[in-house]
Amino acid sequence: MPRSSEEIRSLFDKWALTYDDSVRQPCGPLEGYEHSVKEAAAMVPLEAGAFLLDVGIGTGTFGALFAERGARVWGIDVSRQMLAKCRLKHPGFSLAEGSFESIPYPDEQFDVVVSSFSFHEVPPAARGAAWAEAMRVLKPEGYICLLDIMFASQEAVADARQALGRYWDDDEDYPLVGDLDALLRLSGLCDVRWRQTAPWHWAVVGRRRT
Ligand SMILES: C[S@@+](CC[C@H](N)C(=O)[O-])C[C@H]1O[C@@H](n2cnc3c(N)ncnc32)[C@H](O)[C@@H]1O
Repeated sequence: MPRSSEEIRSLFDKWALTYDDSVRQPCGPLEGYEHSVKEAAAMVPLEAGAFLLDVGIGTGTFGALFAERGARVWGIDVSRQMLAKCRLKHPGFSLAEGSFESIPYPDEQFDVVVSSFSFHEVPPAARGAAWAEAMRVLKPEGYICLLDIMFASQEAVADARQALGRYWDDDEDYPLVGDLDALLRLSGLCDVRWRQTAPWHWAVVGRRRT
């Protein structure tokens, strides 16, 4: 059964204190985390001084890879505790409460929008609207990058469930690459490029048409 938004907030509020330790050597679906964030970040063209939004920023690891390359980073998250941890680690980031479903910024504000390991928390029926919300704040010609636990097919989901055993989480409903690819192209993205960054991770980057 998918979690309610209250359950999701509470889960990540509790996890915030130990989150960085758990992604350093993760078991389960986050295995390969450090490699995946680096590889996905490297897929994104970026100009120094670019305005970049990280949706579901957590403790800020993904956003920091873009800050190192000169981006100015904004971040939103549903979890106040994750934001508090991120604020301590990255005092230069502009942080606010917000979600994929409701981004607290005006249209066409950002040169780049990124997100890592957060989109699967949006319930499947709400993913179209959530993606449209992320596209709303992206400038024309801007780049958007999504890194997440995803699978090429239902057969690949079944393989992962078997391989991960007790680490598999039945409360999660991970996106399928083909479904997301169709959504991205319909939303007006071009130059869409996919890469599998770890056994259970895919990254996609695309450019918003003018
Ligand atoms: C697995 S953590 C990933 C954090 C960070 N992006 C990273 O790569 O380490 C998922 C994050 O997404 C946030 N989140 C959950 N549901 C969300 C939603 N609907 N919109 C935005 N963020 C959400 C959680 O609070 C949490 O910080």
